[in-house]
Amino acid sequence: PPMESLLNLHEIEELARRRISERAWAYYYSSSDDTYSKSFNNAVYRDILLRPRVFVDCMRCDSSTTLLNHKVGVPIYVSPAAMARLAHPDGEAGIARACARFGAMQIVSNNASLTPEQIVADAPQGQVFGWQLYVQNDRAKSEAMLARINQMSDRFKFICLTLDAPVPGKRELDEKQSFKNAVKVAAGVATGNESSRPGGGGVGQQLFWGTAADLTWKVTLPWLAQHTNLPIVVKGIQTHEDAYLAAKYAPQVKAVILSNHGGRALDTAPPAVHTLLEIRRYCPEVFERVEVWVDGGIKRGTDVVKALCLGAKAVGIGRPALFGLGAGGQAGVERTLEILKAETETCMRLLGVEKVSDLGMRHINTRKVERD
Ligand code: FNR
Repeated sequence: PPMESLLNLHEIEELARRRISERAWAYYYSSSDDTYSKSFNNAVYRDILLRPRVFVDCMRCDSSTTLLNHKVGVPIYVSPAAMARLAHPDGEAGIARACARFGAMQIVSNNASLTPEQIVADAPQGQVFGWQLYVQNDRAKSEAMLARINQMSDRFKFICLTLDAPVPGKRELDEKQSFKNAVKVAAGVATGNESSRPGGGGVGQQLFWGTAADLTWKVTLPWLAQHTNLPIVVKGIQTHEDAYLAAKYAPQVKAVILSNHGGRALDTAPPAVHTLLEIRRYCPEVFERVEVWVDGGIKRGTDVVKALCLGAKAVGIGRPALFGLGAGGQAGVERTLEILKAETETCMRLLGVEKVSDLGMRHINTRKVERD
């Protein structure tokens, strides 16, 4: 079907499910244990009510913003997610070309299925990329990758250090597939992870082979600073305590991403909305010291707007980008971004808000969520 006939992210996901291999679907869709966190991620947005103001001129609407002082077309970015070519040969480069059309930022996974050079090859001036790092046990491998990314600092504007998955969660849907459809995971073209551990486990477990589980604020941050001058964004913060700690490392740490890894790490870990509310309550100064980005469960423009109202500067999409790719390659990702952007702007208009910086707590009612 033509991509225009797909009206929302649910329809794109459904088409992707039919188009991509059972193996790819299991890897992308899966989350840990009983998949509670994945369900919370989306359900929590339903429980936040919007408070529209009416009789307001809403002819104009501008959903552009700035992230780390770079201008971006939308407050929506593509989260780092491994192995995009399992969905479509366009892979991460197709995602990059789609992002270019909307001025959207993209964070490239440590376990991408194309090299960073290939991914940014067609990017126009000013398109913003981040590179996500899983520190490897063999630190020399990570140091070599950092050196390579430093060389491309006209493209890669920050390093995103993922902290919430020192070990992979137990993703049963993914693990189950391995007994039916064993694949040799040829990921990490870049990282050299292709000689992953022999057999067994899901794609997730194979990709994590070699990833370090001994990272700490005190040792790993200084090590990282020795190997890059790029700003650092830490991903996977799930408590106000850790958000506060991360903000103490400003200005070296410039942003934090509140995320439970799409429910793929610790099951029953909180959705980003809960962490946003905790930070507002216990250490609101975090918002002044670092940018706060969130991801997990974003399906609608209203979800995007609610996160922004709570203080997030940007909202990431993981699976929706992969499903867009699965549904129609680059064109499918373009349609995904087009829908989310249009829904976000419609939501802003119906709220009576012209620009992103005007969104705030007065536009939402969080009573139902705060009761938890
Ligand atoms: C991820 N995620 C992830 N995160 C990361 O830091 N490095 C990675 O390589 C990956 N890989 C990855 C693969 C797949 C298939 C998924 C679904 C997710 C997590 C990702 O960045 C993000 O936190 C979640 O996907 C956000 O949730 P949604 O949008 O998928 O609900």
